[in-house]
Amino acid sequence: MTAEPLLEVTDLVRHYPAGKGLLGMGSSKGVVKAVDGVTFAIGPGETFGLVGESGCGKTTIAKLILRIEPPTSGRIMFDGRDVARLTGKELLAYRRSVQAVFQDPFGSLSPRMRVADIVGEILEIHTSMTPAAIATRVGEVLDLVGLRPDQARLFPHEFSGGQRQRIAIARALAADARMLVLDEAVSALDVSIRAQVITLLEQLQADLGVSYLYIGHDLATVSHLADRVGVMYLGRLCEVGDSVTVSTDPRHPYTQALFASALPHLPDDADAAREVAVPVTGEVPSALNPPSGCRFHPRCPLAEARCSAEEPVLVQVDEAHHAACHLLPLTVGRR
Ligand SMILES: Nc1ncnc2c1ncn2[C@@H]1O[C@H](COP(=O)(O)OP(=O)(O)O)[C@@H](O)[C@H]1O
Ligand SMILES: [Mg+2]
Repeated sequence: MTAEPLLEVTDLVRHYPAGKGLLGMGSSKGVVKAVDGVTFAIGPGETFGLVGESGCGKTTIAKLILRIEPPTSGRIMFDGRDVARLTGKELLAYRRSVQAVFQDPFGSLSPRMRVADIVGEILEIHTSMTPAAIATRVGEVLDLVGLRPDQARLFPHEFSGGQRQRIAIARALAADARMLVLDEAVSALDVSIRAQVITLLEQLQADLGVSYLYIGHDLATVSHLADRVGVMYLGRLCEVGDSVTVSTDPRHPYTQALFASALPHLPDDADAAREVAVPVTGEVPSALNPPSGCRFHPRCPLAEARCSAEEPVLVQVDEAHHAACHLLPLTVGRR
């Protein structure tokens, strides 16, 4: 990333109190460390990919950035402003600039609204455009995402899953968003449709210069689309770098395991990758009271005594490539 970052996330933390005993009585059973000290930045027109197994904290990061929830601590800066401090018009402008696309049918498209209203709503909220101007703009953005303007009169159920994601993308871009948070946005789609939507996202970014936070659980797909990628494990980043470097020279044993089981690399083969999706063996990871030291140590083939005692920090392993592992020299070429 060369330009000033558009989004800068520093030491972001989100803890949840774990469930209480029966009927809410009794003492708290601990803390769910959903996000536990995450730092990254995204430049204008850049795609940053976040990848990791289910439950590692990806959606929580999306919610914090979208201000659906407040962080426990840490800071999110957008275009030089502290997102937590935005109020009134500035907050509205932020919501206009940073738009989300979730996994279908996660439900951003109201089933009873026509596409014209689903997409137009964003323009009603954020602009003073006339109804006629909104209708024209809706047609434009539908065209932009590969749908026909006359499809604006249809309801979401009249479209395929891939088309519905195109509608969600159209809605997200209608009011000139500067960043899209794409949380598993293509994960539910069939392989060939997924490839088409990914190609669309690439074209839109090239044309509009919009930034993406692209979240997924499949390393091959994420690293294909992203310029840089961050690999998450139980609330923390264990490896961050240029996605070509991370794919060709993964250094954290967890990233190496993810790649070893997630080959081949093409997005068209993502389904094949998913079939062998148990990426690493060992107990199911839990963000509720995560393991001591390196959180990956109970499942790591290389773990030593030190790994359960001391938490490793991200250190530079190459230009624009960081990994958090005590055994880094041993991890070279282990993939
Ligand atoms: N509101 C909540 N209350 C308690 N725990 C939560 C809440 N939201 C998420 N979690 C927990 O936080 C962890 C991270 O969840 P999430 O961010 O959804 O992961 P991912 O998107 O990577 O699958 C999980 O252990 C999840 O159960
Ligand atoms: Mg998620």
